[in-house]
Amino acid sequence: MKFANIGHPIKQSKGAQIHGGGYSDFEIEATYELLDIEPKHLGSWMKSEARRFNGFSVTSPHKETIRLYLDQETEAAQKIGAVNTVLNQNGLLVGTNTDSIGAFQAIAPVINPQGKRCLILGAGGASRAIIFALKNANADIFIHNRTFEKAEKLAKEFDVTALKSLEKVDPDQVDLVINATTVGMGEWKSVLDEKFWREKHVAFDAVYDPLETKFLHDASEVGAKIITGDQMYIHQAVEQFRLWHDIEIDPEVMFTAFFE
Ligand code: ATR
Repeated sequence: MKFANIGHPIKQSKGAQIHGGGYSDFEIEATYELLDIEPKHLGSWMKSEARRFNGFSVTSPHKETIRLYLDQETEAAQKIGAVNTVLNQNGLLVGTNTDSIGAFQAIAPVINPQGKRCLILGAGGASRAIIFALKNANADIFIHNRTFEKAEKLAKEFDVTALKSLEKVDPDQVDLVINATTVGMGEWKSVLDEKFWREKHVAFDAVYDPLETKFLHDASEVGAKIITGDQMYIHQAVEQFRLWHDIEIDPEVMFTAFFE
């Protein structure tokens, strides 16, 4: 069997490691390739190459644009408006989304989102999945994004609040702060000013490389609780494993492979 992860860049992906851990554990004969596909080549790859795979993961920046080239989508993918997992069902490419399940499972053990004020930074594919998960949990959601129009569009779609600037936001009024941008991936930068953090905050970063991002480092400096990106990443992969192989894998198998 053949699986892959498509993105640009892609070398940061631990997909091969964690799915590979599952293949060893369950003696599945499969490969998992990391494919660097530039946005301008996505369409031609989908038409000529994609069906050679039994399934593949989709990462930044393709989670939304991939939808143009799919044969079908699950209800979750449609509602979220982003696809991170594709299943090849007898040549039919079906898009779904496991990120929102991953996000919920990462957050829920640390904070019950119900009625909590959640500030989400970013308005891309990861952000959509996180908003969907938190909305289902009845959280009070605020989105801020570098490109305000994208935040506004999401706010309308999900019936949440878009913030043009963070200057007027009182940090003491916020419970959960989430980095759903790609800022911090392979770099020591945070999308949030370090002065924003309070001890009462829970900080969650969807970036998992490095595991301790500047965003989380700044939060823990003031004593806030942190949720590292491996939590969402592993839990979404557990769900992918179930969809692709019909096997419930113990998350610990993937956590072990992640840290190898
Ligand atoms: P993903 O699939 O991980 O969500 P994406 O769909 O490519 O990735 O979205 C990337 C997000 O990171 C966007 O919200 C993007 O902001 P823009 O909509 O303004 O592009 C955000 N982002 C990327 N680089 C950024 C930067 N240097 N500063 C602030 N936000 C950034």
